[in-house]
Amino acid sequence: MSDPILAVTDLRVSYGRVEAVRGVSFAAEQGSLVTLVGANGAGKSSVINAVSGMLRPAGGRITFEGNDVTRTPAHKLVARGLVQVPEGRQILSTLTIEENLRMGAWHTGSTAQQSIDAMYDRFPVLAQRRALPAGALSGGEQQMLAIARALVAKPTVMLMDEPSMGLAPKIVDEVFRVIGEIRASGTTVVLVEQNARRALRAADHGYVLQSGEVVHSGPAADLLADERIVEAYLGIEGGSERP
Ligand SMILES: Nc1ncnc2c1ncn2[C@@H]1O[C@H](COP(=O)(O)OP(=O)(O)OP(=O)(O)O)[C@@H](O)[C@H]1O
Ligand SMILES: [Mg+2]
Repeated sequence: MSDPILAVTDLRVSYGRVEAVRGVSFAAEQGSLVTLVGANGAGKSSVINAVSGMLRPAGGRITFEGNDVTRTPAHKLVARGLVQVPEGRQILSTLTIEENLRMGAWHTGSTAQQSIDAMYDRFPVLAQRRALPAGALSGGEQQMLAIARALVAKPTVMLMDEPSMGLAPKIVDEVFRVIGEIRASGTTVVLVEQNARRALRAADHGYVLQSGEVVHSGPAADLLADERIVEAYLGIEGGSERP
């Protein structure tokens, strides 16, 4: 791969004596959609949280736009365009929708309101309810708010941790449509999903994680076409597959 916008080499994450991530490497080319898939506890969130600066890796190297950011804190990465939509949305439910969006745009200065208004155009449901507490939104609407809050930060790389989790199939479609639009706009997307088939269908490149290690990787279409991989790692997702 020539000159990836994000490259992770031999990443290690530990929680005390638990080695959650044991030497994971992956890379994302500019404008691509890369997915990390794997079962519960495989280490997906640990990888993504280390990349976004939310937790400090025990080892390895992370480069973003050619610069070493292994020890760069999250708020600095956000200001540089590496932005995460966290697992479980993490919206601030007692603040209004507008306030949540303002928090996402904290570093964008005088253009913040313009970006927020652009999100209202894009997600009318947020516009109608901008003055309501975010906790009043449905799960799907909260996910849209979490995505909008990341977008107002003007990401060049967007990290998304299980954006489809706990949502009804119709809303999952909506989330994947928005992810496709984000990628089509030129933003690089790193998508973590348990919904592996769905994520691989949307992705250019995929990495299958198991017990903190990458056990398979390659073009997403190749992973999907490999019966052994599908059976061994992606089989349980068959239930959520729709025609
Ligand atoms: N704060 C923590 N303290 C101790 N162990 C943790 C902590 N967070 C995660 N772990 C452990 O690290 C391993 C990887 O967890 P992680 O959350 O990264 O997996 P995941 O692939 O995101 O799982 P899920 O699909 O359930 O979100 C698991 O064994 C988990 O129990
Ligand atoms: Mg997780």
